[in-house]
Amino acid sequence: MALELINVCKTFSLDREKHGLEVLVDISCRIEEGEFVSLVGPSGCGKTTLLKIIAGLERATRGRVLLDGFEIASQTDKVGLVFQEYALFPWRTTLQNIVIGLEIMGVNKKERLAAGMEYVNMFGLKGFENRYPCELSGGMQQRVAIARTLIMGPKVVLMDEPFGSLDSQTRNDLQEFLLDLWQKRQDTVLFVTHNVDEAVFLSDEILVLSKRPARIITRFQVDCPRPRDRTSVECNIIRREILSTLRGERVD
Ligand SMILES: Nc1ncnc2c1ncn2[C@@H]1O[C@H](COP(=O)(O)OP(=O)(O)OP(=O)(O)O)[C@@H](O)[C@H]1O
Ligand SMILES: [Mg+2]
Repeated sequence: MALELINVCKTFSLDREKHGLEVLVDISCRIEEGEFVSLVGPSGCGKTTLLKIIAGLERATRGRVLLDGFEIASQTDKVGLVFQEYALFPWRTTLQNIVIGLEIMGVNKKERLAAGMEYVNMFGLKGFENRYPCELSGGMQQRVAIARTLIMGPKVVLMDEPFGSLDSQTRNDLQEFLLDLWQKRQDTVLFVTHNVDEAVFLSDEILVLSKRPARIITRFQVDCPRPRDRTSVECNIIRREILSTLRGERVD
């Protein structure tokens, strides 16, 4: 499914202040079906807010969000969001966390456990299905969080800095895991990251946001073939350009 944003604006109105907090200004972009697009931008510029608007968890002040040309007014199961924090339920096991959406949808126990075990295996969590989040590594918890979103079969997957708190080796491993999964599933992905290397390694296109209020200041097409060599000259050129764009957008 293609995702299109047309002049999306967001101002938070704050009771204490006369003027609201302007966060997003005229965000427009189109992500084609099966495309992997990353969003990079300074901390606090409005990345999470934008994902929440697309997921229907927050309302835009102006502008439109379209899925295959149709406006989405509220939350829809066509869009899945992987949160910035893992946000797993600590009292639920791996399997119980993965199937929570199916449970809410009323899928019967036998079916949801069968689907859950399929995702446990697909995400390399076999043997850990009955463990609690505190008994899992950070990388495993993140895989549970992604599995929990993907089991619902969203057409558009939004990911909010999913690997932000992981060490660099685990992060690299999960990037490769995610790419492999994406190439098989062909989901439309909008991926938020602070990490320019990660964006260049993963994406077809990278949108660079300004500091708040955020506008899209540049777009980079990453045409390097996959699997990518993180240290290749082509990747380095794009990385350098993005970093120099972001350098001008430091938060004061
Ligand atoms: N519900 C809210 N009410 C008022 N202001 C909010 C609300 N949610 C976010 N903000 C403000 O909007 C701005 C953007 O926040 P957001 O979380 O979208 O930034 P971000 O780009 O995701 O930051 P980070 O990279 O640190 O995760 C911040 O200044 C934040 O304080
Ligand atoms: Mg955020």
